[in-house]
Formats: sequence, C-alpha cells, structure tokens
Amino acid sequence: MQNFKSVGMHDKPSTNGKRVPPGPRGLPLVGMALQVLHDPLGTLQRIAREYGDIVRIPIGPDSRILLNHPDYIAQVNVIQQSKFHKSKLTKDVTGRLLGEGLLISEGDFWRRQRRLAQPAFHRSRINEYASTMVESAETQIRKWGDGEERDIAQEMTALTLETAVRTLFGTTLPGEARQVGRSLDFLVRYSLRKARWPIKVPESWPTPANRRAERETKFLDSLVYRIIDERKRLGNIGEHKDLLSLLMSAMDEDGSQMTAKQLRDETMTLFLAGHETTALTLSWAWYLLSKNPAAEVQLHEELRDVLGGRAPAIGDLGRLPYLLAVVNEVLRLYPPAYILARTSIAPSTIGGYDFPAGSTIIMSQWVMQRDARFFDDPEAFRPERWLDGLEDRLPAGAYFPFGDGPRRCIGQNFALMEAVLVIATIAQKFQLQLVAGQKIVPEPLVTLRPRNGIRMRIDARR
Ligand code: HEM
Repeated sequence: MQNFKSVGMHDKPSTNGKRVPPGPRGLPLVGMALQVLHDPLGTLQRIAREYGDIVRIPIGPDSRILLNHPDYIAQVNVIQQSKFHKSKLTKDVTGRLLGEGLLISEGDFWRRQRRLAQPAFHRSRINEYASTMVESAETQIRKWGDGEERDIAQEMTALTLETAVRTLFGTTLPGEARQVGRSLDFLVRYSLRKARWPIKVPESWPTPANRRAERETKFLDSLVYRIIDERKRLGNIGEHKDLLSLLMSAMDEDGSQMTAKQLRDETMTLFLAGHETTALTLSWAWYLLSKNPAAEVQLHEELRDVLGGRAPAIGDLGRLPYLLAVVNEVLRLYPPAYILARTSIAPSTIGGYDFPAGSTIIMSQWVMQRDARFFDDPEAFRPERWLDGLEDRLPAGAYFPFGDGPRRCIGQNFALMEAVLVIATIAQKFQLQLVAGQKIVPEPLVTLRPRNGIRMRIDARR
C-alpha cells in the first residue's frame, strides 16, 4: 500500500518573490507551441517528469503554468477556486454551442444556474434513468451479429446519444438523434480548429465551414426550442420526468425560472458534456478489457455471480465492486476530460510562486493520474488497485476525472451509473476482442478520443 504523506512538495504559505517556475525554453518566438500542438499528452508528461511539480511552459508570446502536484491542483479547483475562471480557450471552443451554459458560465450567474439544475441530478432522480440506460444498451446490441466486426467507439456514441436524448427529452427523436450527434461533432471540431488556428477568419464570412456551422447551430436550436415550446403550449411540464422538464420547473428562491435561452444553453451543455464523455469511457473500457484478459475474466465472474444473466438494475450498483473498479481504472488511464484550464482573475500564490491576474493554469488528468508517486505501476491497467479504498487514501487532486470543488461535474453519478449498467448489460451477452493490426491512438481534442475508432470483433457469449 502506498503512503502518500511524504510524497512531493507541499504548498508553502510564504511566497518566494518574483521567481518564475522552472520549465523548457522551447524554440525562439513559438516556445513549446509546436511540440504541444503535435503531441500534447506526451509533451506534457515529459515536461512534468523533467521539471517537476510546477512548470512554466512558453507558448508563443505567452506562457502556461502546468501543475503536477495534487496539492497545487486542489489549490486551484477547491481552496482558491474563486480566483480562477474557465480559460479563454475553453470558452472560445464551446461558447457558440453552449452560450452561457453551466460548463462555461461564471460568478453569480453560474451559481444560480447550478442551484437550479442541481436537484435534477440528485441520486434519487437519476436512479429513475437506470432502466432507460439498460434499454438503450439492449436496443443498440440487438443490431449486433455473432462474429461481426464493428467500430466500438461509434457504437458507444450512438448508445449514449440515445440515452441522452431520452433522459433529456423523455422521448426518442427518430432519425434526428443521429443528426444531433453529427451536428455536435461538426461544431466541436469546427470551433476547436478555429480556436487553435492562428489566423482568425470572421464567422460572418461565407466560407463553407462558417455556413455549415450556422446551419448546424440553427438545426440544434430549433430542435430544442421546438420541444420547449411544445411543453409550454401543452402546459404539461409536470407530467414529464426528464431532465428538461426538471429544468423548466426549477424555481429559484425569488420565484424566478430559467428563460427559454437559458434552457437552450443548459440543454446543449448537458448534451455536449454528457454523451461523448460517457461514450469514450465505455469505448476505452472495451479496449482495455480486451487488452487485459485476466481483468475481463474477473469481471465476467462477478457479473455471473451477481446477475446470472439477467439485466442489471439500480439495486445492483453497489454489488458490482469489480466493475466499478474497472470504470475507475479506465477513467484514470484514459480520462475523457484529459486537461483542465483556468485563467486567474486575481493575483494568486501556488507552490510559493506568485502569479498575476490573467495567468493561464493547466492541470492534466492524463499526466497526474499516471504519476508513479500516487499510482503503483502507473501505466498498467489494474482495476484491483481500487478495491482496498485507494480513492479515499489518495490526496485531493491526484485523481480528478470529474474535476473537483464547486465546478465538479454535475453528471458524475449519472455517468458512473450509465457506464456500469451498460458494461454489465453488454458484457453478459458479448465478448469484444480488438481486431488485430490496429494502432489505437488517443487523440486529445476537446475530449480524449481514439483517433481512428476502435474496431472490435463481437462474439456472442454462450
Ligand atoms: C465519464 C463521463 C464524464 C466525464 C469524464 C466528465 C468530466 C467533467 C469534468 C472534468 C468537469 C469539470 C470541468 C472543469 O472543471 O473545467 C465536468 C463538468 C460538467 N459536466 Fe461532466 N463529465 C462526464 C459526464 C457528464 C454527464 C453525463 C453530464 C450530464 C448529464 C455532465 C455534465 C457536466 C456539466 C453540466 C458540467 C459543468 C458543471 C459546472 O461547472 O457547474 N458530465 N465534467
């Protein structure tokens, strides 16, 4: 068992004056920009190992401060969190789609929206979605044939999109669900390209990409507004149990409710933040299980003993510790949110270094969660490491796939529940094997995706 007490540095209350943290110099003018752009994960990991717990990375004329110690990460996410906002890049990439949704809003506005949305994510509420999650998994695998090969990343995206649509709107949107997925995917890639590209082409210019972005945004907006209007017209909001109705009927202490625009922004946010991250957790889970047959056998034994072939239900969640450990381990090695970025809005001191307002701070789950000081044999997939209470022993900031502090993921329980129920449903019916000859490359876009998907052979269990 690892003892973390003596690990690394601890935050010093005193400052050490004007010194800047150590770090690579990079190339003239561009600094480390090219390396980070070319291989963000590898570059950040190398820099962290070489320069330590707090590093300055020059990017063009600016710099980023990379934190590689749990204490420092906890400073930003929890202890000094009021001094930090989401970064400009995060807002540039997602702003068009998410407006002032929970993920990127700030201050009092964010606090009110979070207060209004929080009850919809209470455990007793989301427990009601368990059967929808299992049904979506069953519907998806009804299309699978014994011995077939499929891109499991695509399959998991279709599955979680179906769950997202049904839990948000309480209905399926035949045909449109797939279009929602395509629109979201296009808009995220479009915004990311624009944010990273040094030459800014105004959105009003009629380039093919700008025109398509406008079309896709209009499509998503009209879909959400149509459903909101329909509910209002029929006056039957209270009859629905989906997330949208809960948001529509949520009332603040002063009696105010969300406007149509706020409902639109939160709906888009839940769509975007919720479905792809969970799909990726599931995709990486199948990949890691197929690469680690001993873990796959152990998981299968647990499912056989506890469920014996029947569909999982909400009451089974606490009875599948190995499966939960598998999910924790997947989120450790392939965290869908692999980096968090913040801009400081006030002077701050971290690790004894003073940072002025306007500093950009980054914290990487990919780097921290593969740190040998906190995880034995860190690159290995070993679900059993989670079985003896590791999560409680780890210092805050060492493992943060869902972030931490007030901005922690509102959908954490939803996502964990969906991952466990979907894996339990599918793993009892099929064994998934990685098709040989593929190089699976994690591509760090907004989330950590497998670059060319993950082709797997699907064998029915007998
Ligand atoms: C495995 C799946 C998921 C992962 C890894 C994940 C990860 C995260 C992380 C790291 C944050 C914090 C971002 C930051 O601090 O900058 C976050 C925030 C958020 N997530 Fe998730 N998430 C997942 C699933 C979901 C689901 C299922 C939903 C909704 C149904 C959701 C909705 C949100 C929202 C609304 C926020 C913003 C919360 C706020 O700032 O108040 N997420 N998520």
